[in-house]
Amino acid sequence: MIDWSKLTFHYTETDYIVRAACKNGVWEQPYATRDKMIPIHAAATGLHYGQECFEGLKAFHGIDGKVRIFRMEENAKRMHQSAEGLLMTPVPVELFCEAVLLALKMNIDFLPPYETGATLYFRPLLVATTPDISVGPGKDCEFVVIPTPIGPYFPNGFKGMPAMVNRSVDRAASQGTGCWKVGGNYAASFRASEAAHAMGYECMFTDAKTHKYIDECTASNFIGIKEVKGERLKAKGWEYITPRSSAILPSITNDSLMTLAKEMGMKVTRRKIRVEELADMQEAAACGTACVISPLTKVVDPDNNITYSFGDKPGPVLTKLYHALQDIQYGRVEDKHGWCLIVE
Ligand SMILES: Cc1ncc(COP(=O)(O)O)c(C=O)c1O
Repeated sequence: MIDWSKLTFHYTETDYIVRAACKNGVWEQPYATRDKMIPIHAAATGLHYGQECFEGLKAFHGIDGKVRIFRMEENAKRMHQSAEGLLMTPVPVELFCEAVLLALKMNIDFLPPYETGATLYFRPLLVATTPDISVGPGKDCEFVVIPTPIGPYFPNGFKGMPAMVNRSVDRAASQGTGCWKVGGNYAASFRASEAAHAMGYECMFTDAKTHKYIDECTASNFIGIKEVKGERLKAKGWEYITPRSSAILPSITNDSLMTLAKEMGMKVTRRKIRVEELADMQEAAACGTACVISPLTKVVDPDNNITYSFGDKPGPVLTKLYHALQDIQYGRVEDKHGWCLIVE
């Protein structure tokens, strides 16, 4: 039996994974298997040429005992786009959802109880399996959904982390693969993120072309909260600002938070954000499925010898947004947008 309180953000094996292969354009029916190994030809284009993409989504055990999966179709659509980006055979949205639901059903004992704050995370993976040595896209592929229970991101309460601006290693080119969830982006980012970690920071990526604009922060989108002065606002004086860039992943969490911010009367802006604009922000954070919101305590810019400080504790606006989204995910408030699929 799992000790839920000991769960981390690493992989814990469950009973089953779900698999479905596509051969000559025909998908097989997803099936559950206890075998976690996927046989793959040594010449598969997925292994050689990085033809691989993945997703990440969660199931929550709600306060009412019901199980909720958050915005699964959005992950399915995003994987479709990633696959098209790498000229892979996309997983049909229905097949993606069917496989995730089967993975949930077959591993229901691994869904952490409500009180633990832990969740069941699903990692869908699509890899091209066509054996070919000549450089070109393969069309056959294997789709796998790997479930794993993960601990709460903030086991000791919602708190912040410091980040460091990086201009020396590019995660993704401005017209490259950054807008898709493909493994190559992550491999390309490791040098920068590990160097930042070694100094006690998370990595803030800037745009690959000019290094003037904020792209992403860790493997997450960036959010800044700015007090808006001088305008007669319905907005209670706050602006939610997030980068527009061709090289960042369209985060489903960010999209949800933008909707909630608008509902809270905030002004929501998506545009290019220069690093120096951090000086005008009262709060800043990374956002994504794993953490929902991870506030930044400060951002150090070593090239310009500047530190932008946001305080040791998460600010009121981000805290409110964090709880608003978690309340929907755990069924504590009405899900007005129909974001959660309730699985009986
Ligand atoms: C590079 C990158 N950016 C942003 C995100 C956040 O996206 P989402 O909110 O859909 O999890 C993720 C995580 O999936 C990511 O890997």
